[in-house]
Amino acid sequence: MTPPSASSPRSHGHIVVSAGPTREHVDPVRYLSNESSGRMGFAIAGAAAKAGHEVTLIAGPVALPTPDGVQRIDVVSARDMLAAVRKAFESADALIMSAAVCDWRPRRKLAGKWRMKDGGTESASLDLVRNPDILATLAKGKGSRLVIGFALETGEGLRRAKAKLVRKNADYVVLNDPSALSGARASVQILGADGSLEELVDQTKEEIAKALIGLYDKCRAV
Ligand code: C5P
Repeated sequence: MTPPSASSPRSHGHIVVSAGPTREHVDPVRYLSNESSGRMGFAIAGAAAKAGHEVTLIAGPVALPTPDGVQRIDVVSARDMLAAVRKAFESADALIMSAAVCDWRPRRKLAGKWRMKDGGTESASLDLVRNPDILATLAKGKGSRLVIGFALETGEGLRRAKAKLVRKNADYVVLNDPSALSGARASVQILGADGSLEELVDQTKEEIAKALIGLYDKCRAV
């Protein structure tokens, strides 16, 4: 039997990555969701596995193959995602929340198809309630574990991302814009709770993923 080397306990970590959209059902066949492709999160999971880390990928509904060496758990709604991420994060030392979690869900999911009354109905409204904020909820008790969130902003990006970093108790927030949702490339700014700011311009999602895993490896080395 080979004895463990002195460096083996820190040779790899366990990262939880969330990816893709969530779906919030109105009835069995209709839901609220968004355009997230899941590509960023899948690229992060792939890069982390390539770097030798254990990876649990919590994926909303996306049509992407599971990267090699990654344990994938599929979920549908934000509440499903919270439960799965919470469980996986218990034994992990980092959380990267790249999922585009729906902020709202219908107050109740109808058991049968939502039917309009016959004739005359030209408008309808949905009663929505807030979904839990997975990142903020789990980062509260993160201790020394690394937590990275994303911020998709259409205006005043830096100010909003900085506020998010503090409000959600994250170590880093990756700021991007809506073009990143379904594209293969993106420009991002990575803001650190330590005041750092790194800009990656027009990079592939794989390159951005590698940079984020680099941050994780740097934190572990300290
Ligand atoms: O507040 P906003 O939705 O812009 O925050 C984005 C970040 O928060 C992302 O990392 C996203 O995964 C996470 N988030 C979450 N739970 C929510 C909404 C967003 O974890 N309900």
